Amino acid sequence: MMRFSFKKSKLLLSVILCLHIPHIIGQNKIPKIQLEKSQISSEFIEAKIDSIIAVLTLEEKVAMTHAQSKFSTKGVARLGIPEVWMSDGPHGVREEISWDAWSEAGWTNDAITAFPALTCLAASFNPELAEEYGFSLGEEARYRKKDVLLGPGVNIYRTPLNGRNFEYLGEDPFLASSMVVPYIKGVQKNGVAACVKHYALNNQEHWRDKINVEVSDRALHEIYLPAFKAAVQKGNTWALMGAYNKFRGQHTTHHKILNKILKTDWKFDGVVISDWGSAHNTKEAALYGLDMEMGTGTDGLGTGTVNHYEYYYLAKPFLKAIKEGELSEDLVNDKVRRILRLMYRTNLNPNRPLGKLNNKEHYQTARKVATEGIVLLKNDDNFFPIKDQKGLIIAVIGENATRNMTRGGGSSQLKPLFEISPLQGIQKRYKNATIIYTMGYESGAPVYDKVLPATLNQDSLYVKAIEVAKKADVVLFIGGLNKNHLQDSEGDDREDFDLPYGQEKLINGIYEVNENLGFLLVTGNAVKMPWISKTKGILQTWYLGSTAGLAIADIVSGDVNPSGKLPFSFPKELNDNAAHTFGQISYPGDGVNQEYIEDILVGYRWFDTRKIKPQYAFGFGLSYANFKISDVKLDKENYTKKDQIKVTLEVANTGNREGAEVVQVYIGKHKSKVKRAVKELKGFSKVYLEKGENKLVTISMNVSTLGYYNTDISDWSVEDGTYYLYVGNASNNIVKKIKFELF
Ligand code: GLC
Repeated sequence: MMRFSFKKSKLLLSVILCLHIPHIIGQNKIPKIQLEKSQISSEFIEAKIDSIIAVLTLEEKVAMTHAQSKFSTKGVARLGIPEVWMSDGPHGVREEISWDAWSEAGWTNDAITAFPALTCLAASFNPELAEEYGFSLGEEARYRKKDVLLGPGVNIYRTPLNGRNFEYLGEDPFLASSMVVPYIKGVQKNGVAACVKHYALNNQEHWRDKINVEVSDRALHEIYLPAFKAAVQKGNTWALMGAYNKFRGQHTTHHKILNKILKTDWKFDGVVISDWGSAHNTKEAALYGLDMEMGTGTDGLGTGTVNHYEYYYLAKPFLKAIKEGELSEDLVNDKVRRILRLMYRTNLNPNRPLGKLNNKEHYQTARKVATEGIVLLKNDDNFFPIKDQKGLIIAVIGENATRNMTRGGGSSQLKPLFEISPLQGIQKRYKNATIIYTMGYESGAPVYDKVLPATLNQDSLYVKAIEVAKKADVVLFIGGLNKNHLQDSEGDDREDFDLPYGQEKLINGIYEVNENLGFLLVTGNAVKMPWISKTKGILQTWYLGSTAGLAIADIVSGDVNPSGKLPFSFPKELNDNAAHTFGQISYPGDGVNQEYIEDILVGYRWFDTRKIKPQYAFGFGLSYANFKISDVKLDKENYTKKDQIKVTLEVANTGNREGAEVVQVYIGKHKSKVKRAVKELKGFSKVYLEKGENKLVTISMNVSTLGYYNTDISDWSVEDGTYYLYVGNASNNIVKKIKFELF
């Protein structure tokens, strides 16, 4: 037994005292952390932050700038400053994860509402709905006691192979900007920080942690940054996540240029959080804007140094560099100021609402986003809607009819309280018809980083499917991708553009015995469609979350008229896509570098300029009704650069039922002195019309939004001269073109 030594205990006591003396002596200087409800002005908060920073030790400040667990950072316990708790993801609150491992924590109170993936939200072209979506999701994050929601993702859709396109808002920066702002505002109304991600140029998953992207300043500012800029300047996002990849040789999570753009040019006053393991250097992290370092490798419970939070770049190495005078203490003070500001907006905000979880309103929002985002791509012979009637035999074939789609896909995967499958939704809705289901094909269980083989005999599944199709009056094939590894999932990209798991062969086989065939595509990406002539109807149904089956049945039955429009182009062939036109260096890169050679011509900008016909165009979507856009007028013929352009037009519903049309306004410079796309989306409006109804619609935009990023002056320029206004209901269906002049 250790002999009691007075000498040792005296030494121990003096060590403890000297550690705490500053606090004991300064006790009266300790500020009250809590704010009164009336004290939430920014002036008061900034003053409060000053007073807190003044009494924090250097160790306490550094500790706030890096992870203490998988999804949390330290507070300051002795002062009552809380920890910051974060959670994925962009379309639902992820299940609780273990303190130190990626495994689920095994809680039983963390099931939530799974909302449709963001491509579906983008396809709704409904910014008001985006705010409702963000608010509902923010309520769930608040109820789950999360201070930061790690979403939305706004990386631009550059290649149909990107494993995470389903998490993002499509190929057009104006659409992505228009949808991300209300989403963020909705989330943050709950006192939960949105964390727009991944800043920037994380447009693929292949080699995401190391690929160095080379892209022009024009494409950077005109295509890849606008949604982030809108999130900061219009959405007032309280957090932003750095990306894994490099840009011009430096890691984007602590990047000199990107940090200047974000924190100096855009005046971002929030917190930059790394992606998990995306920090690579203490000095760069300190100097170039990283405020909170989170980690993939985490070992806070072990005693080693590898992956230990205390050895993160913004932990002991940062503390040491400051103590040794290599880095200024001002750097950590700015980080702590931002973190405390985030806290006064979230867990220290005395007016923060309580949040809600799994309620009727959230299910209604999820279902509304799903039905408004589903896109009717093909409808020959009015294949859809399918009327529920006695004696009708509907064959539902395909693994995606029953597969759980909220699992898989990587960090955005969810544990919903329930998930209604397409088959369940169809069975619930069709009370009179006879529904027969067979799997048709099998893919294998969703595992993050490997492809598990199918377990059933594929031939017997195929034979069974043909038998079932033979007996049916109508066949609904429900297939697509499925968020398995290499199939719409984080961590890597798809390896080809085709439908996997033998679906094409199966569709052809079904067609041989039954031509009354419709395809419900469950994907977050475009796919190759060599089978298109074998189908009468095609619905792009995305990943729809908890109410998937209800929304699909709403549309298939005609209870709801589809109104979604594609937020990205579907190329016929992969090599029709801009990123796949310039060889490996363009996509996926050579393993070290990658060049965005198509530059500003992403998506429809490329198809327009190269006069390539896509399979389905950006902004395209059919309806069960018919609409007519007419009487398109500009308020002037000539504009100055300070003007606002006002477009007026009429939309009529000439169909035989209610519906909604998305009127799109594109603008293009005639004979520009620089390379520019033929036209760019500058405005849109979703118009709801009863049968026979017509409405006058006004869409306005500032002339200043017609500029291009002028690399000669590193700023935006608006050219004088002739422009064209294009109005239509798809990027390749323009009903009116009007010339106007700019002076
Ligand atoms: C992942 C993702 C990021 C996610 C984070 C935490 O690597 O890139 O989007 O929020 O790690 O799971």
